[in-house]
Amino acid sequence: MILFLYLIILVFGFIIPLLFAIYGVFCIIVDFTGAPYVPTSQKILEEILEGAKLKKGQQWLELGSGDGRATRLAVRRYGVAGTGIDIHIPLIFYSRLLARLQNLKNIHFRIQNLFSTDLRNYDVIFMFLLPVTLKKLCAKLEKECSKGTLVISHGFRILGFEKYLVIVQKRKLFPTYFYKL
Ligand SMILES: C[S@@+](CC[C@H](N)C(=O)[O-])C[C@H]1O[C@@H](n2cnc3c(N)ncnc32)[C@H](O)[C@@H]1O
Repeated sequence: MILFLYLIILVFGFIIPLLFAIYGVFCIIVDFTGAPYVPTSQKILEEILEGAKLKKGQQWLELGSGDGRATRLAVRRYGVAGTGIDIHIPLIFYSRLLARLQNLKNIHFRIQNLFSTDLRNYDVIFMFLLPVTLKKLCAKLEKECSKGTLVISHGFRILGFEKYLVIVQKRKLFPTYFYKL
């Protein structure tokens, strides 16, 4: 009985608050590295993926994948080979857990900074990042993406990418910009 009580105190008094604290620290860190963690709603993701006209077997990359919901939906519904990267370590572990629970194949979540991610060999790149981050990323996208890559920026336009703009999904808050390189 005493052991059980100690276990309860350990879990609720120490382990769970510690996990929340680690999660919170990462949420603060990512505010300064690219974008705060703000997940895209399921309904909007469905609109975006429909607009992307994804095909089975295409290579999909999500820069700053959060809880992996966009990548998981793209893999589940359209059969793409999905990769999500994020520097928020708890969210990457959570994404892996959800992908495993959904029994998804051809899906990978990596702990990685988007500025050091190799962007070559992807058919579709999806992101929801701050304008300042998109501005810094612009030259890298242009240099590394193959011709024909579809770059989808949710929320904000990529300055300097106007010549590649093909579609805008308009919304009151957070439109989505589709660029074809
Ligand atoms: C606005 S959220 C978008 C999450 C997800 N893409 C979605 O649409 O639901 C931005 C994500 O970018 C991640 N992030 C911020 N800076 C990053 C960086 N330098 N490298 C990788 N990921 C980063 C954050 O941790 C966060 O999960």
